[in-house]
Amino acid sequence: MAQDAIALLEADHQRLEDLVRDYKSAGSDPSAKLHMAQIICMELTLHSMVEEEIFYPAFAHATGDEQMVERARKEHQHVKELIDRVPTAENLDGAVEAIWRHALEHIEEERRIIFAKAKSCGMELATLGGRIQTRRAEVATTVQEA
Ligand SMILES: [Fe+2]
Ligand SMILES: [Fe+2]
Repeated sequence: MAQDAIALLEADHQRLEDLVRDYKSAGSDPSAKLHMAQIICMELTLHSMVEEEIFYPAFAHATGDEQMVERARKEHQHVKELIDRVPTAENLDGAVEAIWRHALEHIEEERRIIFAKAKSCGMELATLGGRIQTRRAEVATTVQEA
């Protein structure tokens, strides 16, 4: 039985929050911190990808709210630009801080508006959850093979 799409996406949000907390409380070993920052970026990228490929189109189809999806995609794009700066960041803590500040603002809006609307409009959340899990598994395999 597939998990509900919103439960899966919220579990991602929670995992990201935990990873950022771990990053902040980690010591000052630069290579360990870079590794942690890379994991945060990878998880965020994967999360945004399944939302953009699977959840947002289904949301737009079910609610007709293209405007909200467009806004969310722009927010993802902004976070992506901040993620792209990580490999060359002189101040890694500042770079992670900026990513998380924007990501968290987006997550809160997603929760308040998109998820709330999705729950009340009869979307096939279990089916979507299954698709999200399949897509994540595919990408994870590709990353391991690379
Ligand atoms: Fe999002
Ligand atoms: Fe999200």
